[in-house]
Amino acid sequence: MAQPIIAPSILNSDFSQLREEIAKIHTADWVHVDIMDGHFVPNLSFGPDITATVNRLTDQPLDVHLMIEEPEKWVERYIDAGADTIIFHVEAAADPAALARDLRARGVRAAFSLRPGTPIEDYLDILGEFDQVLVMSVEPGFGGQSFMPEQLEKVRTLRAEAARRGLDLTIEIDGGINLETIGAAAAAGVDAFVAGSAVYKSADPAAAVEELRAAAASAAAEAAEA
Ligand code: DX5
Ligand code: ZN
Repeated sequence: MAQPIIAPSILNSDFSQLREEIAKIHTADWVHVDIMDGHFVPNLSFGPDITATVNRLTDQPLDVHLMIEEPEKWVERYIDAGADTIIFHVEAAADPAALARDLRARGVRAAFSLRPGTPIEDYLDILGEFDQVLVMSVEPGFGGQSFMPEQLEKVRTLRAEAARRGLDLTIEIDGGINLETIGAAAAAGVDAFVAGSAVYKSADPAAAVEELRAAAASAAAEAAEA
């Protein structure tokens, strides 16, 4: 298996010094950008302009997580801002498969996410339109919540389905990922891990990223041997 992808969320970083905050995660594979509109989730973060600023501050790919209503109306702004992957919520999109095709046609990786209460089975038929699925392991809206282990069942379902159909699908997880929880997620088949507080609350965020990656890699190797 490829090296685990670690994508720190900058949601809980200090926006007054974004340049320094992004430099602190230079060991990360991607930068996870959480967009909240105060409607789809009960919290507001920032929009396309700050996303474009983040893009100017780093060469790392931007993994843009849109927790917003009517994502169709906004994707173009985030593509222009420099998104490499656009993750929208299936609960918010009128036609997820059509939006995925639109994203790919515009040259970005297409991804969907789903809330903990949304069943994955309803979306397996459109999996082929996507490069990535983001499984939420907390209720979207805030950093610092506790990991919901039962969400790993969705990861196992996705992994089995992707293998059965020969799909090149990245499975990502978001919410409550830290050194205690990352192993179980890696063993279930996750390849990309979002971590907010586990990275930014650490005294050494760059080292925290490397520790998370090593923990995921060893848990995945152990699961593959078993
Ligand atoms: C939650 C966001 C997450 C969050 C992760 O709605 O999508 O990306 O910031 O933060 P932690 O790792 O602290 O759960
Ligand atoms: Zn997120």
